[in-house]
Amino acid sequence: METVGIDVGFGYTKAYNGKNSVIFKSLIGDATDIQFRSSLGEESSTSDLHITLNDKEYFLGSYAEQQSNIPEFTLDQEKLIENFVKILAVTAAGICSDSTGPINVVTGLPVGYLKRDSRPLKEMIQGIHEITYHNINGKDETKKIHIDKIHVIPQPIGSIFNLIFDEYGKIKDKKLALQKLGVVDIGFKTTDFSIFDHLKYIERGSSTMDTGISKCFSVFANKLRQESNINIELYRIFKYVTAGMIKIRGKEYNITNLKKRVYTHAASAIASDLNRLWENDWDIDSIILSGGGSVELAEFLSPNIDGNVIPIPRKIDARFNNVQGYCKFGKYKWGNANIKPAQKTKAKDTAPKTIDESKEDTDVLPPDANQEKSKGLSWLRRQN
Ligand SMILES: Nc1ncnc2c1ncn2[C@@H]1O[C@H](COP(=O)(O)OP(=O)(O)OP(=O)(O)O)[C@@H](O)[C@H]1O
Ligand SMILES: [Mg+2]
Repeated sequence: METVGIDVGFGYTKAYNGKNSVIFKSLIGDATDIQFRSSLGEESSTSDLHITLNDKEYFLGSYAEQQSNIPEFTLDQEKLIENFVKILAVTAAGICSDSTGPINVVTGLPVGYLKRDSRPLKEMIQGIHEITYHNINGKDETKKIHIDKIHVIPQPIGSIFNLIFDEYGKIKDKKLALQKLGVVDIGFKTTDFSIFDHLKYIERGSSTMDTGISKCFSVFANKLRQESNINIELYRIFKYVTAGMIKIRGKEYNITNLKKRVYTHAASAIASDLNRLWENDWDIDSIILSGGGSVELAEFLSPNIDGNVIPIPRKIDARFNNVQGYCKFGKYKWGNANIKPAQKTKAKDTAPKTIDESKEDTDVLPPDANQEKSKGLSWLRRQN
């Protein structure tokens, strides 16, 4: 049975099945009647996510951002589970999956909500969903998505699994598997800390803080509102931050210095949370920075962290670390559905162009890969 990893983040929804990657902004909007479509511009970067689920029509991702009257996102965990997760997860699964039969899903929750929200999350997405994709060529495609088994793990653990397991769910990095690892997953809303010691999840060093990148974006938005009187939605800010410049009503605002100040401050807040949380865990062997926000903050963060920080590879899109790990773990847990890993991206929003797994694809399996069911993994209980 096919395994799909699904990561519904506050910023982006991601899915991965070992072969296809999907990413789009976690934005849901009303479906409007579009009278004229121009096919000018880049097809690949034009998102057109228009779906019907449970008799309701939606635009999603950047399509909602551009075309909906009221595009909505949330920074509230309860709302995310109640109003967003089903639509986003089912849509992502439907694009990602190649299967016409049932699929198994591994997904995650911020460590601070794992206990409270695991069951509601499962109830939201388990079962059979009928979804229609309204393609811009006018051809509708209705799919049945049957989510059979579902396993929920702490989100940042996905990033560790991504490093430890290969595409077939076998341990590829034995050395790392035998270390005490700390992971810092900086997302759009949350920063999640977690410790994994000899493949055991350590609750004590695991926590969720509200120090994601959207906090920095709020500062940019406030400052720009003061100067321009325009209210900029947080989900629209990223591309301007990267450019360091934003044009509002024809006037240019340079935010390079502001960005440096805000990111320095955010990084030191995260570093001091980390030092406090892991005060007694001075024996951590390696610290992994993960999540899209870590790309932004890495240069400000690393100098503040005492320890062996594993640098973020430039070629990798760190937003995918968790979801790739979810998928690999699913393959460990439920076996491999014989999908040959090959990089193919079905991006509906920002294509994860930077991702390059060609190296991993050619990895030779370690000779002892079949004996990987080391005792430490017993807490994960493999079920067949
Ligand atoms: N190429 C990119 N395009 C868009 N955002 C990017 C890119 N690279 C890094 N980012 C950063 O990634 C952040 C989103 O990261 P990520 O997808 O890990 O968050 P999330 O999982 O949606 O959020 P959370 O974990 O809080 O639920 C954005 O806020 C942005 O700052
Ligand atoms: Mg995340």
